[in-house]
Amino acid sequence: MKYKDYIGVFDSGIGGITVLKELMNVLPNENYIFYGDSLNSPYGDKTKKEITGLSMHIVKYLIDNGVKAIVIACNTATTAAAKEIRKKYPNIPILGIQPAIIPAQKEHPDEKILVMATDTTIRLKNYNKKDNIIPIPCHNLAEAIENNIDVTYLLNRYLSPYKNKSSVVVLGCTHYPFIKDEIKKVLGNVTFYDGAHSTAIYLKKILENDNKLSSSKNKGKVIFESSNKRENRYKDLLKNYSISTK
Ligand code: DGL
Repeated sequence: MKYKDYIGVFDSGIGGITVLKELMNVLPNENYIFYGDSLNSPYGDKTKKEITGLSMHIVKYLIDNGVKAIVIACNTATTAAAKEIRKKYPNIPILGIQPAIIPAQKEHPDEKILVMATDTTIRLKNYNKKDNIIPIPCHNLAEAIENNIDVTYLLNRYLSPYKNKSSVVVLGCTHYPFIKDEIKKVLGNVTFYDGAHSTAIYLKKILENDNKLSSSKNKGKVIFESSNKRENRYKDLLKNYSISTK
């Protein structure tokens, strides 16, 4: 069991790094195995069944190798597959990440909230039917970020209709925190919300309750695995990404 008592973190690709950074910030003494499924990325235009199959495969691999908890660092996989994964593995904490709409609404009760997410997340969550939310399905955006392609065209297309309509943006895909500056170029000075910090705090609470926090006083290890040889890219991004709500 090469990852005994590690925390397993996975995403379709690089987006999970934005969550991993937050986990490491809140729980620095834990060991992490990050698995990026870049070969099958993007998840955001796959069916619920396809995403569940891919996610189950990764979860099984991580659990077979001894992890003590799993963080699904992907809004799309959480929305599509978390329920089934928890059903299959009821004895291990399986945490997911959700678009952070509740804190955004709490802090901006009089504004409509722009929710950027993948097609699948928007569809499965039924955001089109909810008041005070403007859902923005960002087709191809995670894929462009994943492959380091210029996002200017896509952002102009998806976001310019909402310029000056709201100053609150929920980043409902873990790839999007990498492009906050580019989003601001289109929307101006908006406030961002994402679910990474609350997921990290929740994980800490669960490990504390279960008496499973690492007892080490040293900084934990981080190991990267990728279905498409992107380990070095994940490592570089983790080094260079800094958490900020701005
Ligand atoms: N990073 C993922 C999310 O949070 C999905 C990106 C994708 O593969 O489409 O939704």
